[in-house]
Amino acid sequence: MLIAGNWKMYKGPREAAAFCRELRDAALPDDVDVVVCPPYVSLESAVQALADTEIGVFAQSCHWEREGAFTGEVSAPILREVGVYGTLVGHSERRQWFGETDDSAGARVRAALEGGLHVIACVGETLAEREYGETEAVIRRQVGALEYDENLVIAYEPVWAIGTGRTATPEMAQEAHETIKSLLDVPVLYGGSVKPDNAAELLGRPAVDGALVGGASLDIDSFAAICRAASRS
Ligand code: 13P
Repeated sequence: MLIAGNWKMYKGPREAAAFCRELRDAALPDDVDVVVCPPYVSLESAVQALADTEIGVFAQSCHWEREGAFTGEVSAPILREVGVYGTLVGHSERRQWFGETDDSAGARVRAALEGGLHVIACVGETLAEREYGETEAVIRRQVGALEYDENLVIAYEPVWAIGTGRTATPEMAQEAHETIKSLLDVPVLYGGSVKPDNAAELLGRPAVDGALVGGASLDIDSFAAICRAASRS
């Protein structure tokens, strides 16, 4: 089981360090891999606070070139230099607000993997796509932009479940995860309003290999509770 906390645009370096120290002291279960994904400027303080622990620090995106004239972007070698272990790629908020496409996400994933990072690549349908019966086609298209790699994990995050308090039912998650696994045999995380009180049920489904947690990962008690629920699942 892998539990990843996507902090999105929350927690500067000081708050990140304080949170990571609490996480280090939280006696998390040993059978669960735990990852946090702070904003770029907080990565280094998170890495330092988690040194000598098994908790991984991931970025939230990564550019497809090693260096160049790409204002506002950060590359795999730069992330590696500050001790970052992996990165998210293709989150729906990047697709919705920052023009991320299947092609650009695919290029970022390849560059991150080639640069020695682990990758959690995000896929998932919008509410309109689900209502039009396009969920499977969207997943096939998004996953089709990726190739198998032993360091690749996919997160299924239905867009309508992100930050809304609505979650996919465990059956919906299971079905989407089976589709993804039929295309690429990689671990698949569920994301979208995962909370301490619904984590065990979602994580209990056989095709659910962990969770990508947004809002509930910002609070130490709720994040630790989700990690403990993963241990029992
Ligand atoms: P929430 O858990 O806040 O719905 O966010 C999910 C998400 O987008 C994780 O990447």
